[in-house]
Amino acid sequence: MKSYRVATIAGDGIGPEVTAATLKVLTEALGASRITFEDMPGGAGHYSRTGEVLPDDTFAACRDMDAILHGAAGLPGVNYPDGTEVGNDLHLRLRFRLDLYANMRPIRLWPGVRSPLRDFDGGGIDYVVVRENTEGLYASRGAGVLLRGEMATDTLVVTRKGTERVARFAFDLAQRRKGAPRDGRARVTVCDKANILRSYAFFRAVCDEVHGDYPGVEIDYAYADAITVHMVKRPDFYDVIVAENMFGDIISDLGAATVGGMGISPSAEIGDSHALFQGAHGSAPDIAGQDAASPLATILSGAMMLHWLADRHEDADLRQAGDRVEAAVGRVLAKGDHVPRDLGGQTGCNAMAEAICRALSEEDKTK
Ligand code: IPM
Ligand code: MG
Repeated sequence: MKSYRVATIAGDGIGPEVTAATLKVLTEALGASRITFEDMPGGAGHYSRTGEVLPDDTFAACRDMDAILHGAAGLPGVNYPDGTEVGNDLHLRLRFRLDLYANMRPIRLWPGVRSPLRDFDGGGIDYVVVRENTEGLYASRGAGVLLRGEMATDTLVVTRKGTERVARFAFDLAQRRKGAPRDGRARVTVCDKANILRSYAFFRAVCDEVHGDYPGVEIDYAYADAITVHMVKRPDFYDVIVAENMFGDIISDLGAATVGGMGISPSAEIGDSHALFQGAHGSAPDIAGQDAASPLATILSGAMMLHWLADRHEDADLRQAGDRVEAAVGRVLAKGDHVPRDLGGQTGCNAMAEAICRALSEEDKTK
């Protein structure tokens, strides 16, 4: 029986708290013998102490181990001379150096969670934003022009290879899912500004070409401005949305807001041979160290990690463990007696993890 090693970078702010909570739940679901979490340094705090945001040993562990689990990174005031934040450099470097080209962000309204959208209940919103994660406007990061304090430029880069692989990822995902809540149809929505910029028109054209290989999946289009209205007025229409890097960054936060916020929004940053799993939220230094954060986004990212490892290694135990973690989160949320603070409750970070562990062990007893 294969055992797995996970490079674990707790990071800054609430990172250590949500990571510890996640390790507790994943170990409860899978057993300590099957998965080990190797704590690796990195982030803004580490940079302040050592001058390194991503030490070579940490990068080597991320490259060589089976998966990467990350809490959060970034601290106020810890910036580079060009004004950009140091903490973000940790996972941005991992994205580019490990070529994690598909950033999967499920937007799912769980039963028992109230949406700010009054017409939608649990199950009514359930789609995935697939954000291209290695080019687009982010390709210029750290490489833009800064001229005489008068001018600054960053260039949007859209390549055929980069678009084809993320589009194929999106169509494959739509084929595996159960379709949009509204009509059960497998659908990929291309989010762009093809009406204005050639680079986005090229993005759309390449997505169209890839669609040719997926006759069973419907293709749909939405401009990046218009989709923000649709995601509020008819979110049940969506199944999978594929978007350029910056647009994906923006619309995935909006999507998170419609299902309860960043505290319940997981993410998986996936490449052909590596993957990083972390809550879509930041390091929230304002509530760090107070057991106040919600661990749900990181726990659900942990479940995505088990599913990714299960697919990669054809490991049914891991698939089952991932399903069990999601189901346990669902039971706790539906029951409603343990509710994290960002969802209007009083339950602390550690107590949420313990409630989910209890739900897992209770399930075992019924078997
Ligand atoms: C995200 C974040 C990052 C991004 C930042 C923190 C670098 O907003 O993961 O969505 O811009 O991609
Ligand atoms: Mg973001």
